[in-house]
Amino acid sequence: MEQYIIKGGTPLVGEVQIGGAKNAALAILAAAIMTDETVTIDNLPDVNDINVLLEAISGIGAMVQRIDRHTVRINGSGIGDFSIEYDYIKKIRASYYLLGALLGKYNKAEVALPGGCNIGSRPIDQHLKGFKALGADVVIEHGKIIAEAEQLRGTHLYFDVVSVGATINVMMAAAMADGLTIMENVAKEPHVVDVANFLNSMGANIKGAGTDIIKIRGVKKLHKAEYSIIPDQIEAGTFMFAAAATKGDVTVMNVIPKHLEATTAKLVEIGCEVEEFDDAVRVVSKGRLNHTQVKTLPYPGFPTDMQPQIGVTLALCNGTSTITESIFENRFKYLDELARMGANIKIEGNSATIEGVEGFSGARVSAPDLRAGAALVIAGLAADGITIVDDIVYIQRGYERFEEKIRSLGGMIEKVASEKDIQKFQFKVG
Ligand code: UD1
Repeated sequence: MEQYIIKGGTPLVGEVQIGGAKNAALAILAAAIMTDETVTIDNLPDVNDINVLLEAISGIGAMVQRIDRHTVRINGSGIGDFSIEYDYIKKIRASYYLLGALLGKYNKAEVALPGGCNIGSRPIDQHLKGFKALGADVVIEHGKIIAEAEQLRGTHLYFDVVSVGATINVMMAAAMADGLTIMENVAKEPHVVDVANFLNSMGANIKGAGTDIIKIRGVKKLHKAEYSIIPDQIEAGTFMFAAAATKGDVTVMNVIPKHLEATTAKLVEIGCEVEEFDDAVRVVSKGRLNHTQVKTLPYPGFPTDMQPQIGVTLALCNGTSTITESIFENRFKYLDELARMGANIKIEGNSATIEGVEGFSGARVSAPDLRAGAALVIAGLAADGITIVDDIVYIQRGYERFEEKIRSLGGMIEKVASEKDIQKFQFKVG
């Protein structure tokens, strides 16, 4: 089992290139099979979740050709199987996008019920509600969701909760339905807009992505496209908080600063200097930072996927901070790990009260999920002494060359797989 070993206490300084958005890419790869023509997708992050989804896509008969680490060519004309059972796919949340894509194109899909990070109960009722509203019969049998329709028909749909996944999934299916679909109370995240832009580049007719109402005029066929995925706002935000927590000076490159506004606002509030450029953001952190309140909300609110990273930072700030997690009910597990490093935290329901401490001390901790794992790495980088992070397989699902990027900023971190590697690292860092 691989682990990260970190010697903390060095401020992160320098520039770091941000890759393509994982969550946009997952949906776009699924949508790419909706045409029989060849689609080229660029700025793909080379992370485990993406590679698993690509294997699943080729497993049902699509041609998947990796041009290079960040570019893939997909041709869905050879798909002969509408059933995704591949065991590992259950572990990635976004496998459900194959439901919308296959249902939209072939009027039939069978996909194993998704798993993903264990951050709450994560129902998919809104996805299924959308497919049913489009005229599909949907049943769950033997751990699989089976959706089928004679012909999908446009509909007027109001989502009960704002869901990124349901918005994208139903949008994909509706893109090839007969007639007009109007979806209200939709998610407005940048990756919802990116998927809509991608589908439109294949000939779909989708308007309003990024607002509360999306209108989709179904088309009979989609065609070839070349598309570049937007930068990953969560990867960027992770490095921005790493700069804050380590008293560093980091410029995240190849980003869309507008997508980072909620993160930027909080960093400024706690006392960081943030400078925005056309496609970069620089975060400078000097002296002790100040406490604040955070509540996670759908975009443009503060992202739930940035909650652990700000949590680690606030645990080092002056005074008492509070975090309210309003999207997922089980996203505070990292705080127990952080307490082992000296953080002073009280959790009640979906709120955490954090009494800032002067510093963390290195400890052995375990990544409970993807973003929380990255946050614990930030804690290790800020801590005094050695931190070992276990279960980094979670982190590898969503961060490309995480340790290399951190090292390029001066952070002392190594991926290790044995006691001997740990000793070697300790000897190296003294
Ligand atoms: C996506 C992201 C995840 C991020 C989350 C919120 C992917 C692969 N994952 O997850 O990283 O944390 O958005 O930004 O893109 N809900 C329902 N019924 C549904 C669907 C959702 O009640 O059918 C609830 C969820 O329990 C949650 C809220 O809606 O409380 C938001 O979930 P949603 O936006 O759907 O998250 P995901 O798409 O699963």
